[in-house]
Amino acid sequence: MIEQTPEFPTLTIIRHPLVQHKLTILRNRDTPTKIFKELVDEIAMLMAYEATIDLTVEPMEVDTPLETTEGRHISGKKLTLVPILRAGLGMVEGILRLVPAARVGHIGLYRDHETLQPVDYYFKVPGDVTERDFFVLDPMLATGGSAAAAVTSLKRAGATRIRFLCLVAAPQGVRRLAESHPDVPIYAAALDRELNALGYILPGLGDAGDRLFGTR
Ligand code: PRP
Ligand code: URA
Repeated sequence: MIEQTPEFPTLTIIRHPLVQHKLTILRNRDTPTKIFKELVDEIAMLMAYEATIDLTVEPMEVDTPLETTEGRHISGKKLTLVPILRAGLGMVEGILRLVPAARVGHIGLYRDHETLQPVDYYFKVPGDVTERDFFVLDPMLATGGSAAAAVTSLKRAGATRIRFLCLVAAPQGVRRLAESHPDVPIYAAALDRELNALGYILPGLGDAGDRLFGTR
């Protein structure tokens, strides 16, 4: 169950009832850290189900206990998850449960609180970059600065096939990422209204990193 709009051609919103139900609990200010973490994990897994819908498969023979038959297995490029530190980490395990063979890279970025510009501090991805499909993970797409910077770093390293998965997106962030990287599909569980003066998404869910890790 997905939604696409002409205004944001690179965006796919995942409207599955389970995703929307869990997202609503996630937004609740009273949801404790433990539940918050579990929900981010579960929503990421459900979103990955949709975001992997076009993975290529090829036929293979399989021996059942009774006879040999033709099955399918995923072929093509190898999958790599790239969480943007910190909050993207919360999305990794859920997706790995669906795609256990995926590798995990890391991009360290934080938003300067004054300028809202991304500051990068870490970059590590598997070596065979051109062989891989990348899923960049971050629960929040606010101004889009962090996402655009992460994708730029991956492309600089040689990546060509990149998707971006977030839980909550702001229109400004979707526009910014699409302008900088029109080739990168964006998957979100919600497209929210706007950003406040501090760059927080409204209605949003607050500071994803702080709520995931119990800081502040
Ligand atoms: C948050 C969030 C994104 C970024 C989104 O991280 O997890 O990475 O802000 O904002 P943007 O779209 O305006 O760039 P933050 O910078 O708070 O770092 P943290 O995960 O370490 O808390
Ligand atoms: N980062 C967050 O964690 N939350 C927002 O609303 C915006 C950026």
